Amino acid sequence: MSAVHIDVLDGIAVVTVDNPPVNALGHAVRSGIADAVAQTDKDASVQAVVLIAAGRTFMAGADISEFGKPMADPGLPDVVLQIEAAQKPWVAAIHGTALGGGLEVALGCHYRIVDARAKLGVPEVHLGLIPGAGGTVRLPRVVPVAKAAEMVATGRPIGAAEALQVGLADRKSDGDLRADAIAFATEIAGKPLPEALVKRAPVDAPDDAAWHEIAGSLVSKARGQNSVIRAVDAVGEAVRLDGVAALAVERQVFTDLMADPQSAALRHIFFAERSVSKINSLKGVVPRKLDHVGVIGGGTMGAGIAVALLLSGLQVTMIERDEDALATGQGRVADTLMASVKRGLISPDKREVLLQGFIGSTNYDALEDVDLVIEAVFEDMGVKKQVFAALESATRADAILATNTSYLDVNEIAASVSDPSRVLGLHFFSPAHVMKLLEIVRPDQVADDVLATGFVLGKMLGKIAVPAGVCDGFIGNRILSAYRRECDYMVEDGATPQEVDTAMKAYGFPMGIFAMQDMAGLDIGWAARKRRAPTRDPKERYVAIADRLCELGRFGQKTGDGWYHYPEGARRGEPDPLVSEIIADEAAKNGIKQRDFSAEEIMDRILGAMVSEGQAILDEGIAASAAAIDVVMINGYGFPRWRGGPMFAAQAGQKNG
Ligand code: 3HC
Ligand code: NAI
Repeated sequence: MSAVHIDVLDGIAVVTVDNPPVNALGHAVRSGIADAVAQTDKDASVQAVVLIAAGRTFMAGADISEFGKPMADPGLPDVVLQIEAAQKPWVAAIHGTALGGGLEVALGCHYRIVDARAKLGVPEVHLGLIPGAGGTVRLPRVVPVAKAAEMVATGRPIGAAEALQVGLADRKSDGDLRADAIAFATEIAGKPLPEALVKRAPVDAPDDAAWHEIAGSLVSKARGQNSVIRAVDAVGEAVRLDGVAALAVERQVFTDLMADPQSAALRHIFFAERSVSKINSLKGVVPRKLDHVGVIGGGTMGAGIAVALLLSGLQVTMIERDEDALATGQGRVADTLMASVKRGLISPDKREVLLQGFIGSTNYDALEDVDLVIEAVFEDMGVKKQVFAALESATRADAILATNTSYLDVNEIAASVSDPSRVLGLHFFSPAHVMKLLEIVRPDQVADDVLATGFVLGKMLGKIAVPAGVCDGFIGNRILSAYRRECDYMVEDGATPQEVDTAMKAYGFPMGIFAMQDMAGLDIGWAARKRRAPTRDPKERYVAIADRLCELGRFGQKTGDGWYHYPEGARRGEPDPLVSEIIADEAAKNGIKQRDFSAEEIMDRILGAMVSEGQAILDEGIAASAAAIDVVMINGYGFPRWRGGPMFAAQAGQKNG
């Protein structure tokens, strides 16, 4: 079957793009569409054309795997121009996702009808690019300029209802898209062709002050990402210039960005995120059934995990220590789902339905029917072992037992039950219903189908599931510990916490390590350090500043003080002279003569610590590839995506700044 085929019936040509999995606009699709324009123009029996895609989605964009190679003719911008110049009206019939080049092709069409669940967007910024086939030019000629700028600069897709409301779609189909599109095409077949978008004026014309505000607010969120800044500029130019001149400007920017190292980094991470959960040894392994999941503990993590599970359609039973703790845990779940209603993510009815699938109990017997249990109780080996013993007697012998531990030895937990092949680690990140990352921790004796079920769960939850071996902290927390230690050294040696945080933000992190600790709470790390104290190598340098803060009850934002002072519940901290005193005192105690640090040195030291720990993790087989480490650090720890992750950045020899 060719990538594009045409069926003509009753004067309507249906042009179907069929290029699985996502109908990317590779060469065969581009030339197939160009041929279809020529053929339908020539065929006197054709009155109108419907452009539709087979399979799960409309065209999801240019074929990213062709990037970096010479583009074979016809190029996508020309194909869009050819559709726009067709003599018969073209109707794009959109289902699934019309993204990037896919939406640009739809914008070349004279009309657009969208399935009610369709999403439309231009996500090129996430690949370090801007739309390169007229998106920046045609979008503001069909939707208000502010909306076009937002779509291009954020890459965020919009749904069918909004597309209809802002003018991107002409019709919405709530049933049979193909039939509705053919009916629409029949209706407009005899009418004069609308003026090509590229020849039209923009939908509206914000004055300088209004544009300044729109552009300023979008650019302020760029955090060093070139494509976002260039995207906003391109829309500005597209509005200022006539359409044809604007197309040339857009093309030049697209070509420039294709050669930008940021784009190479973003494309690296796009493919890394999709390859990281493909495990050769699990090919053909049949996963276990997964309908009903138990969650032990209704604290921060247990409640978040329960919400994630409910949202993906699973039935959940939560176990807590006593009725009070259970009520608190259940309340957290109900509140989080209410917040999702308020944000328009789910309907109030949907929330009610989800809560019906959510049971709470203080009795482990309620788990007799579950397929999987995820334990999220206190980070304490004794408590975890007690819970696993209770789980062993309460659950079916084939139920999978998972721990959400951050640092503890999953092999030791597995060895505490009679069948260790049932046990694995499922390490979620907080908030668990939001964060995309899931580390799937493989203890030595885990069964293949147990592991495979972990990856199925990851997919059901919409997470990026990264396999990790057993060690203290797995991939992410182990690297975090390594660079946090490096930051502690620098602070004792004379860098201030705010200098470290400022350097990290300038590099592209959303926040620095000290502000992050204040947000997460310093008590967790303190408990871990106390646990490790007896086995710590006395020759290893140890910085006690954080311990001193904790001894004063300074646990971070929640106590109003930590590395910073937070006046009256403020979320942004201020430098605190008392912290400076403690730092100076510790330095003096250890005979350290403090010195100045440049932002460059700070970042070199942090990246160096990340990369050398990452290399050790690779050497020990804890991570399967350097790309897996990049995926973890970007999706769990705020490493700037456009730098491609610490391992990629080191390999590409990128310099910070
Ligand atoms: N080009 C090449 N391959 C692509 C692709 C693309 N644009 N989009 C997805 N794929 C591949 C993936 O690599 C994956 O391959 P694999 O099975 O071998 O791993 C497969 O298609 C399925 O993708 P996902 O696992 O991501 O499937 P999902 O169903 O979860 O998501 C999607 C589907 C929402 C379409 C998602 O794949 C996506 O966001 N794709 C990228 C969209 C995009 O960025 N488009 C813009 C491209 S740039 C452009 O168009 C330039 C133009 O302006 C000139
Ligand atoms: P938390 O203190 O908020 O919640 C723990 C809950 O477990 C409490 O509600 C407690 O009542 C309950 N609990 C304790 N013993 C129990 C038992 N025997 N049976 C039933 N319930 C019991 O802790 P948090 O932050 O949710 O952490 C839980 C686990 O998740 C820990 O292992 C932690 O290391 C891990 N984790 C934490 C992350 C975080 O950001 N907070 C991130 C990833 C993992």
